[in-house]
Amino acid sequence: MSSTLLRGRHYLTDMDFTDSELEAVFDVAADLKKEFALGKTHRLLRDKTLFMIFFDHSTRTRNSFEAGMTQLGGHAHDLTPDRLQISHGENAKDTASVLSRYGHGIAVRHTVFGEGHKYLREVAKHSRVPVFNMQCDIYHPFQILADMMTIRERFGTNLRGRKIVVSWTSAPNYVRPISVPQSLVLMAPRLGLDVTLAHPPEFKLMPEIEAQARENAQRAGTKFEVVHDMDEAFRGAHVVYPKSWGPLAVTTNKEEGLALIRKYPGWCCDDRRMRLAAPEAVYMHPLPADRNIEVTDEVIDGPQSIVYDQAENRLHVQKAVMALTMGGRP
Ligand code: CP
Repeated sequence: MSSTLLRGRHYLTDMDFTDSELEAVFDVAADLKKEFALGKTHRLLRDKTLFMIFFDHSTRTRNSFEAGMTQLGGHAHDLTPDRLQISHGENAKDTASVLSRYGHGIAVRHTVFGEGHKYLREVAKHSRVPVFNMQCDIYHPFQILADMMTIRERFGTNLRGRKIVVSWTSAPNYVRPISVPQSLVLMAPRLGLDVTLAHPPEFKLMPEIEAQARENAQRAGTKFEVVHDMDEAFRGAHVVYPKSWGPLAVTTNKEEGLALIRKYPGWCCDDRRMRLAAPEAVYMHPLPADRNIEVTDEVIDGPQSIVYDQAENRLHVQKAVMALTMGGRP
């Protein structure tokens, strides 16, 4: 196994673990997945506590972290600001300092643009225990670990020469966070994938994230390109990952954002576009998806869709990171 010295570490961004540390996470996740399938218990975090603070709603993240802690022999507290003194203005320092004296890990979801990641950094600064990013305004690192585990299960660990398309889609009623495409373009080139990012001009990613993604690709010897045409992007792709996000690098005004989204109604993943991709291409989405707006039922329910494998792997990668950071050898 690769480096396992992750005890006590935070996981806040896609750049926090080295390549060999990522390999250790994938190794452990695969082992835990196998044991889970066999009904073997693995109480690696017996009697340990994770505090989960959700500033936003969640189905997959909340339940996979909580189930994961149970399966590891510990317990997760499912917390929201309205049930904490955060609602009366208690700051991140006081919350983190106190919770980290009670338990063994703190996990936060806070996606408000311009606030979420800053809050997580403040929690991490004052926590004595590992802090996990369950999605912020900039990154969704556990989603992307699960996505990469899923892609490696399908195509093998050598992804050289495989192309992933990270494409914007239209979803006219909601300005979604930008964190999933940003984390994807940071992580995918590190693991050997050639990345094509496709979006209308106003839906560009944060410039510093795109610059980091280019640097990651250069260092890994993989490709990174940006196009403004969904059909062009899909041609020959092995992994298509179309999802909506807001024009947050251009405007944080909700009405302006919705008006920009409505400018581009044709950006939907359908059968015609899937046929532009490679014959063995897979369709991915982190969920929840706006069915028949972002993607047709035929595609998301079709044979190329691996969305439920992605969702399942949230459980296994999160257990691996928790076991290695909250447990592990001293
Ligand atoms: N993909 C994801 O993070 O899903 P939830 O919002 O349901 O947690």
